[in-house]
Amino acid sequence: MAQYSTNRWNAELYDTKMGFVSELGKGVLDFLAVQAGESVLDLGCGTGDLTAAIADAGALPVGIDLSDEMIRQARDKYPSLCFAVANAETYRTEQSFDAVFSNAALHWMKRPADVIDSIWLALRPGGRFVAEFGGKGNVQTIVAGITEVLADYGIDAWQRHPWYFPSIAEYSTLLEQRGFTVAYACLFERPTPLGTESDAIADWLDSFADPFFYDFSAKEKAAAYRKIADKLRPKLYMERNWVGDYRRLRVVAYKERDNGQSRN
Ligand code: BEZ
Repeated sequence: MAQYSTNRWNAELYDTKMGFVSELGKGVLDFLAVQAGESVLDLGCGTGDLTAAIADAGALPVGIDLSDEMIRQARDKYPSLCFAVANAETYRTEQSFDAVFSNAALHWMKRPADVIDSIWLALRPGGRFVAEFGGKGNVQTIVAGITEVLADYGIDAWQRHPWYFPSIAEYSTLLEQRGFTVAYACLFERPTPLGTESDAIADWLDSFADPFFYDFSAKEKAAAYRKIADKLRPKLYMERNWVGDYRRLRVVAYKERDNGQSRN
């Protein structure tokens, strides 16, 4: 059976049609409050737009992403910046960063304790971790539509669910177990415009929900997307706009200089 890899990204489609990912992520940069000269690891940097915003603020960012296509595009767009293809679940670096930042990436990583381990080890004592990603209940209307349609094909969507959407309690506990001090955690609704065209939801499914349909032919996929769009239209198509029912988890946590429990 074909194996799906969440590393299969279309960087061009991501930049042209999903530009809102970086645009809406700019809010979390305020929480990072980057200082000139700081070193910042941007974890799951995609095509590098927020890495570039961090550099514009005077910091020295390094962007990593699992997708070589995303990193190629990031390097093309921002040749003076430092990017690397890397898996955040196993990432190790000699550098000791002042901050680790992540926007709209951690929900793709289904081994969160391993990611938190990588973050901890990448930070200097006193460093901070600032992130935003999908939290508990994120895109639940879309997931319900996918689940219903896949059931018609005899497929249990849960077996293919590619995302990790934790609650505040679950994620804070993981952070605290690794030694972090959680200074801030907030779960909030962020209705997200996905586009005005009638096939905007199909573009979204094509960009982000492919793991559910990894063994579908292009024709089968198009038919499934149409069925899902029909189910979702009454709930998510408003005033000629598709609006995704996004729910974000935003966290700020510190690796305190001496918390008596650091393992490294
Ligand atoms: C998100 O940014 O919340 C998200 C994006 C794609 C798929 C699922 C969630």
